[in-house]
Amino acid sequence: MQNDKEMLERIETLRQQLANETAATKEAVEELRIKYLSKKGLIPALMADFRTVPAELKREIGQKINELKNEAQERINALKESFESSDGDIDVDLDLTRTGTPVSCGSRHPLTLVRNEIISIFGSMGFTIAEGPEIEDDWHVFESLNFPPDHPARDMQDTFFIDRDKADVLLRTHTSSVQTRTMEHTQPPIRIVCPGRVYRNEAISARAHCFFHQVEGLYIDRNVSMADLEQVLLGFARRMFGPDTRIRLRPSYFPFTEPSAEMDISCHICGGKGCALCKGTGWVEILGCGMVDPNVLKNCGIDPEVYSGYAFGMGVERIANLKYKVKDLRLFSENDVRFLKEFESAH
Ligand code: PHE
Repeated sequence: MQNDKEMLERIETLRQQLANETAATKEAVEELRIKYLSKKGLIPALMADFRTVPAELKREIGQKINELKNEAQERINALKESFESSDGDIDVDLDLTRTGTPVSCGSRHPLTLVRNEIISIFGSMGFTIAEGPEIEDDWHVFESLNFPPDHPARDMQDTFFIDRDKADVLLRTHTSSVQTRTMEHTQPPIRIVCPGRVYRNEAISARAHCFFHQVEGLYIDRNVSMADLEQVLLGFARRMFGPDTRIRLRPSYFPFTEPSAEMDISCHICGGKGCALCKGTGWVEILGCGMVDPNVLKNCGIDPEVYSGYAFGMGVERIANLKYKVKDLRLFSENDVRFLKEFESAH
């Protein structure tokens, strides 16, 4: 009897002892294995004494010894694995003063960087930011901006309509709609830039997408002239692309400006000599602009006899392409981290 009780106690003591064992090194784990499981170890010793246990208790005690053996094996395996995965003697090498493994925090999207830069350049010239909805109505995107219902310029902009049966609800094709909204509820002077996403029904390719980003600008006051426009755009081009940048305005057409122009900058890659980027011309187009058509002012409740103004609009992707030489527009919306990571240092 004495012997049986003692056996149970020895099993229990060993089990507790085992639970408290720790090992700081791989070698220490091996020592534990030897201590408990090797031929001369504590558990085989228990098994040897098991022979003297009375027959009727053999089952119960045998089972307990087996459990203990399995537990020991499991514990030692687990300790061993912890060293294999951390590949070293954790406690010995643990240096709590070391800086942690660097965590990648992500970075701003290149389009955000370029948009912010554009905004901050115009901000320094007194322009504030105005925003508006992406889902718009015909009036703010087209009608108020002098696009008559059957005007071919509407085709130019390939519009997405929200509802098949309602030609009135659509995704804005330019942020000029924000200019209209601002003019409707503000009297001049108005000096705003309108950043935002715009949508056009285009086949997606390296050079076109069904959405892109714009920053448009508007300045309305007394006696605003084309010369003011040119000076502001020259200032912008030089801040954005370097102090030697030159600009030129080519006559163009937009329904909401008269006269209208497209602006080129001297190619910042070759300095104007001619290269692959500017296709040998020395110039690259960056934006559209012009004097706000008096009809537009009238449509928005501003007296064109008193006020005049200019507007301009540019694609953020276009500016980013020129600045960072991104060849495929689709990269901007695919969110491939390998691409995005290239802009980590650009902040
Ligand atoms: N809204 C024009 C576009 O999206 C750009 C523009 C804005 C042109 C203002 C002239 C004046 O293409």
